[in-house]
Amino acid sequence: MASVAFLGLGVMGYPMAGHLRNKGGHDVTVYNRTKAKAEQWVAQHGGTVANTPAEAADGKDFVFCCVGNDDDLRAVTIGAEGAFQSMKQGAIFIDNTTASAEVARELAEKAQVRGFSFLDAPVSGGQAGAENGVLTVMVGGEQKAFDKAKPVIDAYARMVGLMGRAGSGQLTKMINQICIAGLVQGLAEGIHFGKKAGLDIEKVIEVISRGAAGSWQMENRHKTMNAGKYDFGFAVDWMRKDLGICLAEADRNGAKLPVTALVDQFYKDVQGMGGKRWDTSSLLARLEK
Ligand SMILES: NC(=O)c1ccc[n+]([C@@H]2O[C@H](COP(=O)([O-])OP(=O)(O)OC[C@H]3O[C@@H](n4cnc5c(N)ncnc54)[C@H](OP(=O)(O)O)[C@@H]3O)[C@@H](O)[C@H]2O)c1
Repeated sequence: MASVAFLGLGVMGYPMAGHLRNKGGHDVTVYNRTKAKAEQWVAQHGGTVANTPAEAADGKDFVFCCVGNDDDLRAVTIGAEGAFQSMKQGAIFIDNTTASAEVARELAEKAQVRGFSFLDAPVSGGQAGAENGVLTVMVGGEQKAFDKAKPVIDAYARMVGLMGRAGSGQLTKMINQICIAGLVQGLAEGIHFGKKAGLDIEKVIEVISRGAAGSWQMENRHKTMNAGKYDFGFAVDWMRKDLGICLAEADRNGAKLPVTALVDQFYKDVQGMGGKRWDTSSLLARLEK
């Protein structure tokens, strides 16, 4: 049993922290900007509520975090009441936020100077993956810190991989999002075409999902897409944040991402349709407009 803190009890963080407590058996202190959520978590799982990230991180072996973007991550780490103010020597900060590789490298360096470790550890698997404790975790950082943290991360993961030095977890997550962007647009076009052709979409998917076109998105999203249901899942706003990170990194490393850039604009259209919090499969709604 380790002493653990978790910062950010959102759609992802809330159940992830729950697995650290219930599956991992760890002693968990939680911090959430909106305190009511932290109080609700403690009422449900036990543990302790902290008033600031620094208070939560004080004396802990592992400090987990899952907030929105680079700025939020900076606020809870190096901000005035951030966790980096109180992390103990030898502790490990594990960041599950999807953020830039740049901020990961910056925070890893700052942590090293202060005598503790930082791992960038973004996740894939969505809300259901977090609730069921079966996330894929892509980690960047030092092997020694990874080896210590992996058994703890295992509480909410099915796959945990060390991808390389600081920032490599975020770079791997970018590849994940690049692959998803084009794929979801392809799936949306397929279903759109099938409807126009007058075919039974359920029947079409039942057959083609067993062949070369099959994918997680097809398996898990075709039913809701066919029903025009998007008020759940991975928000378009988050996807645009992620694609922005991918496109900025591509500007730096020279990669060409023409389809990713185009799909990013399609998501902008979806935002304009009122779909900021819709699931990313709502690209179909744009075609049906
Ligand atoms: N949802 C998914 O399916 C999914 C899948 C994979 C990866 N991700 C990534 O995981 C991260 C979290 O996503 P989510 O869906 O859990 O988001 P969310 O439900 O919006 O939760 C965000 C959390 O961050 C906190 N937060 C935001 N800004 C903050 C700040 N400046 N200071 C302190 N706390 C702050 C929020 O606190 P409040 O409660 O006070 O707002 C909340 O606890 C994002 O980077 C997202 O891209 C999400």
